[in-house]
Formats: sequence, structure tokens, C-alpha cells
Amino acid sequence: MSEQSAPAIVNEPFILCENLVKIHKIADLEVVALQGLDLEVKEGELLGVVGASGSGKSTLLNILGGLDRPSAGRVRVGKRDLLKMSPRALTEYRRKEVGFVWQQGARNLIPYLSAQDNVELPMILAGYAGRTARQHARDLLAAVGLDSRRTHYMQMLSGGEQQRVAICVALANSPSVVLADEPTGELDSNSALTVYQAFRNLCKQAGVTTLIVSHDPNLARHVDRVVAIRDGKLAGETVRKVIAKHPAAPAHEQHPQHEHVFEEYAVLDSAGRLQIPKDLREQYGIRERAKLDPVDDGILVRPVVREGEADVNGQLADPEALETQRAMASRAERRGLQKLLARFRKR
Ligand SMILES: Nc1ncnc2c1ncn2[C@@H]1O[C@H](COP(=O)(O)OP(=O)(O)O)[C@@H](O)[C@H]1O
Ligand SMILES: [Mg+2]
Repeated sequence: MSEQSAPAIVNEPFILCENLVKIHKIADLEVVALQGLDLEVKEGELLGVVGASGSGKSTLLNILGGLDRPSAGRVRVGKRDLLKMSPRALTEYRRKEVGFVWQQGARNLIPYLSAQDNVELPMILAGYAGRTARQHARDLLAAVGLDSRRTHYMQMLSGGEQQRVAICVALANSPSVVLADEPTGELDSNSALTVYQAFRNLCKQAGVTTLIVSHDPNLARHVDRVVAIRDGKLAGETVRKVIAKHPAAPAHEQHPQHEHVFEEYAVLDSAGRLQIPKDLREQYGIRERAKLDPVDDGILVRPVVREGEADVNGQLADPEALETQRAMASRAERRGLQKLLARFRKR
């Protein structure tokens, strides 16, 4: 049995990044693109990755795809430790285990080959028999609704169609991971929809662990979970749940009879650090420190209000608490003074 088809260890994430750091060096300049990123992805999960431009999304994908090496931390995909692999093993990993889908059609497809030939090519190069490759390519193209476009060349296909062919190319050699860097970045929302459906139909059904980087706010409707990256770290995540409004609702998730419910979570890093979103910090006047109060079902994070300072509701801090603080302060003061006097008296 090959390593790839070995049964997954229950509950072990398929992709694991721990405290992942990447520093890009250009001449004397160092740019920290990832600064201690922690991420776990389950086998077969369809994961969305969002974040502002420059937040480190492409850097993460390039590392997971074996195109770039991390500077520090841990990164494992399946059983492979990407930090410890030799350059040769990394090339082998990239060729056999990873399927890429890039933003630009030209980077994904060869313009002078038909859609069918583009999908067959990676299989032929990997040594599959012509007939097997032909049939598999046809099946893949049919699964993304491009059966009638098989003989078309790139310039005869729309942007959305090109990206769907690209997904077929990425999946041709049955990779264990598919990495897509802004695959819908140049598409209108309708074409983007067909591309997300293609990811769902192919990757989800084949059980391939898939990461899709996007700026598209609609992404969350089409993936299992979305993680947000901020400044090279994981900042939060949104998990989608689909609830049928009617017991007889069709299985198709995007059907209007299904409601999509999104639950947003803050994420903790391996040291237990938590990032509180800026809007919440501002709303509650939380600045450089906060109070953590255990309550029955969780921990309450409260702003620290200084004496004489109005809290967010415009009220002054609790007068009773202030009185106690004042009394304690004056007691300490008194004690200090008494000590000083005692010292003088001894002289
Ligand atoms: N090859 C590189 N050389 C130098 N700096 C880079 C390189 N790739 C990315 N960076 C820098 O690393 C940071 C993260 O970039 P990137 O991963 O491309 O972000 P994103 O894909 O989220 O826009 C940015 O500040 C970017 O300028
Ligand atoms: Mg990018």
C-alpha cells in the first residue's frame, strides 16, 4: 500500500502548521510574511483562506505546495514534514501530491492544447496509458459541466471555463492536496459560482484536502470553513452550517430551501493567545489590558477602567470600588510615612 492511500489516523489533521515562520530576504531587507501561524486542516476538508493583500496567504500556499521553504516552525502534510525534506523529495512531493490552480488562466493551461489535452497531459507525463488518460480527462471535464467544450482551446473558453479546466488539470493525477490561489480573482460573480461548484463537485467528492485563497465575500457559502489571516497569523475563523428549512428539502446545499448559518470564532494560538477584533475592542473600550472574569459558561473579557475615566457607556467607574482603592492607597501611604518617621526617630 502506498503512503498516500494509507488510512488516516483518526483525529489527526491532514495539514498541520505550528508556529510557522517565513522571512523573505531581498538583499539586506527582511520581510516577515508568516509570523507564528498555527493551522490545522482535516483530511478532505474544503477550506477558504481570506485576508488583506500582503497578509501572507500566497506565502502559506507556496510553503504547503513545496514551492517555498519555511524559515522556522513546523509544517506537515499527510506524513511529510516539509521542513525536513530534501530538495529532491520536495520536488517529488510537489509533482505527485499537489495540484495547483492559479489566478491567471495562462499559468494553468497550455494555450495551444485543447481542454481535453490539457487535462490528459499530466497523466501522460506520469506514465498513464493513453486510453486511461483520455477517459479520466473526459470524466473530469464532464463533472464540471464542460463535456461540450472538450475540443476548445484556451482563447475559446470564458474565464470561468478556463478555471474549471484548470481544476480538472490539478486533479488529473489524484493529488492529496489542491491549492488554489485566488482562482476567482479575475471572474465575475456568476463565473465564480461555477468555479466554486467545480471545487465542491470534484475535490469534495474525491476527498481531496483543498485550500482556496480568495477576496470574495461569498466564498464562505461554498466551503466548509474559512480562516482569516492577518499579519502572517491566523486571526479568526467562520464555520458554515447548512440547515434544511423543510424536511423534504433537496440534498443540494445551495438550494433556497437550505439556510446557511455562519458561526464566527476567534482562534487561539499554541501559547493560548487570542486576538480580539478591533471593532469589538473599540466598542468596549478595551486597550492594552483587559480583565478576565470566569463566569458559569465561559470567560468574560472586560475593559479595565481607570479612576475618573468614563467607561464606554459614559458612566464613571464604580464609585464604591474607587473608594476601596483610595482607602487602600492611603493605607499604604500612611504605612510608608510611618516607616519613614520610625527611621528618623532611630537616628
Ligand atoms: N518572494 C518574496 N520576496 C520578498 N517578499 C515577499 C515575497 N513574497 C511575498 N513577500 C512579502 O511577504 C508578505 C506576504 O506576501 P504574500 O504571501 O504574497 O501575501 P498575500 O498573498 O496575502 O497578498 C508581503 O509583505 C510581501 O511583500
Ligand atoms: Mg497572494
